[in-house]
Amino acid sequence: MTYVPHYPTAFLERVEIPGRSRILIRPVIPQDADEFRLFVRILSGDSRRNRFHSTLTEIPETLLRALTNVDHNKHVALVAKAVDESGVIIIGEARFAREEEDSPAEIAIAVADRWRRKGIGTLLLHRLEISARRRGVEEMFGSVLAENVALIHLAFQTGFKLHTGDTTYGVVKMYKKFS
Ligand SMILES: CC(C)(COP(=O)(O)OP(=O)(O)OC[C@H]1O[C@@H](n2cnc3c(N)ncnc32)[C@H](O)[C@@H]1OP(=O)(O)O)[C@@H](O)C(=O)NCCC(=O)NCCS
Repeated sequence: MTYVPHYPTAFLERVEIPGRSRILIRPVIPQDADEFRLFVRILSGDSRRNRFHSTLTEIPETLLRALTNVDHNKHVALVAKAVDESGVIIIGEARFAREEEDSPAEIAIAVADRWRRKGIGTLLLHRLEISARRRGVEEMFGSVLAENVALIHLAFQTGFKLHTGDTTYGVVKMYKKFS
């Protein structure tokens, strides 16, 4: 793998997924850009809307660069990779970003449609939380479309709370404070 300064090797992990091959979870690097572009392309329209709150079909290059060039401190991103008939592909991502080191960290997560309900979302969120705690994050939060049942269930299962009654343009805030 290409040398990346401050690359958190502790988060490199191979995991067995029930009924599927093994997957690799690791922090993103800039060289993942092509695979990440493909990952966004193969997400269903609904999944892209839930992930990006937009109807984009192709990820803009500036956004692609921002999502694959992270500092592994204020912006931490994990990708899950697997091998399918076309070779190595990205099948999931989870990230947090915060403005300042003492700011709450905003999360985002997505798993490729055909890899859902295998526990990959839960796993990524768990590893992201460990990474956040190690970096001194005190609160993680996310903005979820109110109809995004999958994420709301996942959020509840992993200890997030919802800001009830605070739905702006169909977006609900979820949050988890570490004590
Ligand atoms: C939300 C998402 C990441 C879940 O990924 P996943 O790998 O399927 O999640 P898991 O397999 O770990 O599921 C964990 C729990 O979430 C809930 N869940 C997941 N998908 C669900 C669905 N379609 N309907 C209802 N609950 C669902 C279940 O409670 C599930 O536990 P169970 O399988 O034991 O019942 C995935 O659906 C996704 O990528 N959605 C599109 C992108 C998105 O919505 N991102 C969030 C905004 S940033």
